[in-house]
Amino acid sequence: LDGTDYLVEPGTNLLEFIRSRDTFVPAICYNESMGPIQTCDTCTVEIDGKIERACGTTIDRPMTVNTTTDQVQASQKEALDRILEKHMLYCT
Ligand code: FES
Repeated sequence: LDGTDYLVEPGTNLLEFIRSRDTFVPAICYNESMGPIQTCDTCTVEIDGKIERACGTTIDRPMTVNTTTDQVQASQKEALDRILEKHMLYCT
């Protein structure tokens, strides 16, 4: 995760693990009690070079995860912009 190696229990949710490392990744539609809903895309991170949702990823193999690359930040911003664009219709 962001250049640091960790041993993680297989089956751990990636977003939960990232949060446990005090690393911030936005996650608007994720709720611990409900699990991954996977509708907002604000939690995207880079997993083995591909942009994917952290909330919908289970750690079940060795993986390289980056949360701070330009591509990750652009993806998160795009997702938030999509939400705000629609939100503007209903909220002044
Ligand atoms: S938190 Fe919304 S898709 Fe992951």
